[in-house]
Amino acid sequence: MRPRRLRTSPAMRRLVAETSVEPRQLVLPMFVAEGLTEPRAISSMPGVVQHTRESARKAVAEAASLGLGGVMLFGVPEHKDATGSGALDPSGILNVALADARQEVGDDLLVMADLCLDEFTDHGHCGVLDDQGRVDNDATLEVYAEMGVVQADAGAHLVAPSGMQDGQVRAIRLALDAAGHQDVAILAYAAKYASAFYGPFREAVASSLQGDRRTYQQDPANAREAVREVLLDVAEGADIVMVKPALGYLDLVARVRDAVDLPVAAYNVSGEYAMVEAAAERGWIDRERVIDESVLSIRRAGADIVLTYWAAEIAARL
Ligand code: PBG
Repeated sequence: MRPRRLRTSPAMRRLVAETSVEPRQLVLPMFVAEGLTEPRAISSMPGVVQHTRESARKAVAEAASLGLGGVMLFGVPEHKDATGSGALDPSGILNVALADARQEVGDDLLVMADLCLDEFTDHGHCGVLDDQGRVDNDATLEVYAEMGVVQADAGAHLVAPSGMQDGQVRAIRLALDAAGHQDVAILAYAAKYASAFYGPFREAVASSLQGDRRTYQQDPANAREAVREVLLDVAEGADIVMVKPALGYLDLVARVRDAVDLPVAAYNVSGEYAMVEAAAERGWIDRERVIDESVLSIRRAGADIVLTYWAAEIAARL
């Protein structure tokens, strides 16, 4: 047997490639900041910016013309408070940015909304706190339910709960349905780990978090638990399930792909992005090849959809 026969030329390798990356599979996460007059560079994520409303509109239109699968919007408000009230305000930054995006692209591109309170709370946690400073799961669900409806009203095609509260998918699904938003889909951050790979994201959203999220995000030691979390979200009504981060968790992408028949997404997070950019800047790696291999590997592990800060760049190259 000579397996090398199938590697002899680019044409042969193209014929037998088992996996490919297409623009439609890529989702671009974007940050839109309140009160900016110019886009602001994020130093921990070279090449990524906090958008103004105007520059966000342009980036969303570009994403549509590149044929991306969607954009995932994060809001960076000027003022934060204990309950994250900016998230529920229809004129809050995330909601106006969703409306702008929807007005720009209509139904040509999927507009997705991060559904979480951490950008909006002054303590930086993903939910509201009880009198002992712990994240109050059930009180948070009520806020998430309302937030989902406000985001759908603003024009989101999909809402993406990322706060890892128990029962969040069910609470949001019930609220969307009750408000007449039966067609708004839920992309659930189903298996989301308490990961140091989110480090650069903290600057991107000007996070005020002290401490960590280990009482609600998953322990990186656990794999079976990820399947359990995913199956719960499927039972609660998730339309798409996500694993996050991606590259250190490819075993879970593969397990989740086997465990469910829904589309599976994976989030190529800020730390995965920053490490490649930093090493490339030093000339230590071939930047484009490492980017392509990273996203291909996430696809090969079983992700149908990849959220990546390189989405537009990759699509433009394809
Ligand atoms: C929470 C959220 C986070 C990320 C996406 N949504 C931060 C966290 O959970 O600590 C991280 C994304 C990235 O690192 O690229 N709203």
